[in-house]
Amino acid sequence: MNIRSAFQTGQPIGTQDTFAADVIGGLTAQPKTLPPKYFYDLAGSALFERITELPEYYPTRCEIGILRDQAPAMAAMFPPGCALIEFGSGSSRKARILLGAGATVAAYIAVDISGDFLQQDLAQLERDLPHLKVHPLVADFTKPFAIPQKLATLPRVGFFPGSTIGNFEPAEAAAFLRHAGQVLGRGALFLVGVDLVKDQTVLHRAYNDCAGVTAQFNLNLLARINRELGADFDLAAFEHRAFFDAEQSRIEMHLVSTKPQQVHVNGATIAFRRDETIHTENSYKYTVDSFQTLACSAGWSPVEVFSDGLFAVHALRR
Ligand code: TRP
Repeated sequence: MNIRSAFQTGQPIGTQDTFAADVIGGLTAQPKTLPPKYFYDLAGSALFERITELPEYYPTRCEIGILRDQAPAMAAMFPPGCALIEFGSGSSRKARILLGAGATVAAYIAVDISGDFLQQDLAQLERDLPHLKVHPLVADFTKPFAIPQKLATLPRVGFFPGSTIGNFEPAEAAAFLRHAGQVLGRGALFLVGVDLVKDQTVLHRAYNDCAGVTAQFNLNLLARINRELGADFDLAAFEHRAFFDAEQSRIEMHLVSTKPQQVHVNGATIAFRRDETIHTENSYKYTVDSFQTLACSAGWSPVEVFSDGLFAVHALRR
């Protein structure tokens, strides 16, 4: 799991009641939607891991390549003895690249809503980097959280990879950047991985892979609703659809009903027209400029961009 977050988690966030209420709320809305945070149950997380390895899905590979190539330059910007705070750390695979390059990092604070994932990977990290204080923090990183007292005085560097910021609406992305600024404090550095606007064919392929893994990932949301809420979605009667909307600069992911049908979820009957869609996710793409403008609007100053032309890791200063 290298890209996980508070809204991408296999752990129950609230209760099954919250899950049911969110699902019914989304399916009775017009147009129909489902919250993307529910993609990441155990099956969904495994499918997402496979997406990151697909030939068509370039963002993970590009970001890791940029981190590998530029980690020394990034680490050189870190204040000595700093705490690296990752928002939605999952497996910590990307942070590890920075930590390996930056002997100046005194502590790594991995914030993730899923405690299980945190423990496993961090134990290994502690063995590999014995000088480093590793601190898991089980929290929803989109909400205020406290830095542990013994680490509170260290200068802070934030890390938010995976273009997870692209899964927020732009206004929410700005609100998140502002919130992260509050957590990180004045003068903090923030590294944010952001997918770039690019050739539409390349974008389209990344979310419509030949092997159909992204389709499975999207459809798993319905399978999960069947499993956990006893619904009767016929998975063969829904199709994955993902396309780039240039106007909004975003990939939209939908599940399309291939025929008129009714589905029963938790006592509710949901009617679908033929071709009616459930909007499941957006992935906004930014140019270097459009992201820097967004960051500025949220109280950050751009200091550097590390890019391979397909993906960008932005360094911001508060
Ligand atoms: N944030 C990444 C992206 O938008 C990861 C992601 C979220 C994703 N949902 C996805 C990747 C669905 C593939 C399919 O690209």
